[in-house]
Amino acid sequence: MAEPILNIGLLGCGAIAQFAHLPALARTRRARLIALCDTADDLLQAIGRKAGVDRLYTRYEDLLSDDQVRAVLVAVPDPLHVPLAERALRAGKHVLVEKPLGANSRECRELARLVRETGLLLQVGSMKRYDPGVAFAQQFVRERAGSILSASGVYRDSIFRSAMQESCLDRLLTSPHTAKLTVDPKNDRRHYNLFTQGAHLFDNLRYLAGDVLAVTATFAQQAGQMSWHGLLEFVHGGLGHFELTCKSCGDWREEYVVLGEEGSVEVQVGLPFYHRPAQVRAFDGRTQQWSQPLGGHSNAYVNQLEAFASAIFDSQPAHPDVHDGLAVVRLLEAVEQAVVRGARVEVPQNEDV
Ligand SMILES: NC(=O)c1ccc[n+]([C@@H]2O[C@H](COP(=O)([O-])OP(=O)(O)OC[C@H]3O[C@@H](n4cnc5c(N)ncnc54)[C@H](O)[C@@H]3O)[C@@H](O)[C@H]2O)c1
Repeated sequence: MAEPILNIGLLGCGAIAQFAHLPALARTRRARLIALCDTADDLLQAIGRKAGVDRLYTRYEDLLSDDQVRAVLVAVPDPLHVPLAERALRAGKHVLVEKPLGANSRECRELARLVRETGLLLQVGSMKRYDPGVAFAQQFVRERAGSILSASGVYRDSIFRSAMQESCLDRLLTSPHTAKLTVDPKNDRRHYNLFTQGAHLFDNLRYLAGDVLAVTATFAQQAGQMSWHGLLEFVHGGLGHFELTCKSCGDWREEYVVLGEEGSVEVQVGLPFYHRPAQVRAFDGRTQQWSQPLGGHSNAYVNQLEAFASAIFDSQPAHPDVHDGLAVVRLLEAVEQAVVRGARVEVPQNEDV
């Protein structure tokens, strides 16, 4: 029997839709794009022609009442993630929502309750988990590294990223009619950078090394370039440090090192649009040997869609799920508070949802 295919409606035809989700949907086996929604009709028509999709909606309610659409991919600015994901769930649709899950932990907790009530699947678009190198590293840590002593991460965006991306992306289609928020989240660059970039850093750290109990953090700013450094205390007793820099006058760099009692792993994640698998070295203390995976299927955006469809059809849990998304937002809030207070801040754990 032929495998079922998930019919997806894409909400938002902006940068990440054009650079990542539309090309990924064209390559995904278990999901297909059947509808698009954006308030900017000119952009919607142009993207519809390009993607070969004719169910085009300028009103979100019309996308939600299309009964051919089984799941919605929410690719709109961060403050709209939770309200628009909630509307999709209430309309009976499964949801794949861009990272960070939400603007604050309060609304993410409400969303977690709604996911439980509806029994629908909500997956967070922290797609780096679907980089085969990162996935290998996580499996190695879980199965071979033993208790974790130290787990650290560096995430440095580059001021040259647009130039780097130009080599592999189509020109961005834009419109003067895109939806405008009453308050542009980019007005508060410090908060925006921490949440939108830090969501990747902290999701990967949690994925590789587990939940964080407390953070201490400091912040510096020079001519619009920002850097957060901090100390992490993991629930399992290990320690780690992090650096988040947006943006550095240097190369893109994202790397993680996890040291366990019986093994260690080093991960270098590439610029996502290059679709190069993370470069990983894992050292197994029992054999005293390094191993390095090749990492074929390395388009993380395709892999996350395949996983989303499989989770729905095979009744498996979402990965990462709403609780992972909430935990990351709580960690980001803790970092923000730790900087303001100049003190160690405990991260609320997810037992309350
Ligand atoms: N996973 C990743 O690698 C990655 C990378 C970049 C951005 N992102 C995330 O993707 C999200 C979107 O970012 P972007 O840069 O594509 O944004 P964008 O501003 O370029 O595009 C958003 C689009 O959504 C549309 N829109 C907004 N509200 C709408 C509504 N109510 N109904 C219909 N359309 C609506 C706008 O008109 C616009 O075209 C952000 O949350 C960002 O954090 C993820």
